[in-house]
Amino acid sequence: MNDSFALTAVALATLAWLVPKAHRRLELSRAKHRSLTGHSRMAKRVAGLIPGYAYDEARWFDRDGASAEVVARRRAGFARLCETLNTRHPKSIAATAEAREMLADLQFTGSYRVPFQFSPWLRQNLRLGGFLQSSEGVKVRDLDGVEFFDLTGSYGVNLLGYDTYKQCIAEGVRTAEALGPVLGAYHPVLIDNMRRLKAISGLDEVSFHMSGTEAVMQAVRLARYHTRRRNLVRFAGAYHGWWEDVQPGPGNPLPPRETYTLADMSEQALKVIASRRDIACVLINPLQALHPNSGAPGDSSLVDSGRRAGYDRAAYTAWLQRLRETCTANGVVLIFDEVFMGFRLAPGGAQEYFGVRADMVTYGKTLGGGLPVGVVCGRHELMKRYREDRPADLCFARGTFNAHPYVLGAMAAFLDRLDTPEVRALYDGLEERWNGRAARLNAALAQAGVPVQVANLSTVWTVLYERPARYNWMLQFYLREQGLALSWVGSGRLIFSLNYGDADFDEVQRRFVAATLAMQADGWWDTPADLTNKTIRRGLLREMLARRLGR
Ligand SMILES: Cc1ncc(COP(=O)(O)O)c(C=O)c1O
Repeated sequence: MNDSFALTAVALATLAWLVPKAHRRLELSRAKHRSLTGHSRMAKRVAGLIPGYAYDEARWFDRDGASAEVVARRRAGFARLCETLNTRHPKSIAATAEAREMLADLQFTGSYRVPFQFSPWLRQNLRLGGFLQSSEGVKVRDLDGVEFFDLTGSYGVNLLGYDTYKQCIAEGVRTAEALGPVLGAYHPVLIDNMRRLKAISGLDEVSFHMSGTEAVMQAVRLARYHTRRRNLVRFAGAYHGWWEDVQPGPGNPLPPRETYTLADMSEQALKVIASRRDIACVLINPLQALHPNSGAPGDSSLVDSGRRAGYDRAAYTAWLQRLRETCTANGVVLIFDEVFMGFRLAPGGAQEYFGVRADMVTYGKTLGGGLPVGVVCGRHELMKRYREDRPADLCFARGTFNAHPYVLGAMAAFLDRLDTPEVRALYDGLEERWNGRAARLNAALAQAGVPVQVANLSTVWTVLYERPARYNWMLQFYLREQGLALSWVGSGRLIFSLNYGDADFDEVQRRFVAATLAMQADGWWDTPADLTNKTIRRGLLREMLARRLGR
């Protein structure tokens, strides 16, 4: 009798322990986005299963089942593109070929411009230059003197126009040159920068780092230290640099660790953040407002026309407000990662633009005035790196080049610019201006009868494709032919600087439409009537399976 009583008690105690645990686990599963992007561990596994193979010339042009007539047009169009691009830029191409052997980064970006099956044959035939010699206004010039409108935005650094950054760097050098690269002690320009960053962020303290990745690492480390909790929350698809914990899926050899990747704009995610006791911080990258729950839209994953984007300011603002309330209620540190979007939406950054305050904010990119930088701003009690009552329990952070005098000088020059009437004027009506430009381009594309549209969050744009197709990524080469420079991710991300005037933009629009018309004429969107995004994906899956099985 006693034994069975004891057994029942143990069983009940075990159940009492297991049921809430299972419930919490279930709640966490429900708070994940249902795509692979929302499941880092599974995404890594799937990525590891995809076999390597490539289309040779015979199969390169008809992967969508196009007719022989269409294939012939594509071949002729491709040959003409190669002829133009291979011969127009000889010096840039030669330098790129030489550098490629020695530069893993170039090997990587060169290989991942388009879906991998198409990449080897494309690279054999179409040579691209990765070198430039100068910039002026909204244009850059390659080693052959060919000019391009810059739509790369230098990964977001270029907000005010390259000429402004050249001036900021020159001013920064003048500010710092008497001291030179003396590190450890500070140049007095630091104090002025901190005053201004405090005013911009509305936060108490500042720390300086060398990249956006490092700023995010430091913000997360401090949040863990002060909350004594381990886990960070990031939202599906959001980029926060390339450090382990913020990149838990493909691309990182380690499995996910203390990271919860939750669904963006989701009630279930709020529930998890409200109820778990192990969450130190939540990271927000405001760029995700353009494509919640999707990763950076690179052309290497543009296997069909499934790319989606669209920005709803009211909905995203409401989400941030809810998130703010939830974090406050559960003692979770809310970190706005404004490394990319800071200063792009408003002079006071995303906090000002959305009217939501964070506990910590990270900045980088443009803030360095053209030089490398990362910055963390935070509340006093979160920024502290030691405890008086436990002096050996530290939160360590250093970095040889932190607060480099030249960088701080260029930063001061950038912050000076932000206060000038000319730059303030660029922010006046910023959103309307760029929404208007996107709407005008979309109208012109519709008028031209091409299956292409754009979506934007202010000056950050992405290209969308309206008809199921397998060759949408070809557009990046037609845009290049027209003298429009994109970064290696291709048509997924166009970044404009604020100094684009109406005449510049009109010319970009003219060239953009011309590129889409040329691509259409060459047959890349002439697809069989029964082709859908679903059939494209199914076909690809079958093809990969066959490869895996050695067929
Ligand atoms: C939101 C965000 N956070 C962090 C980073 C990392 O910054 P960095 O490339 O300077 O390390 C980036 C870079 O693109 C970013 O967009």
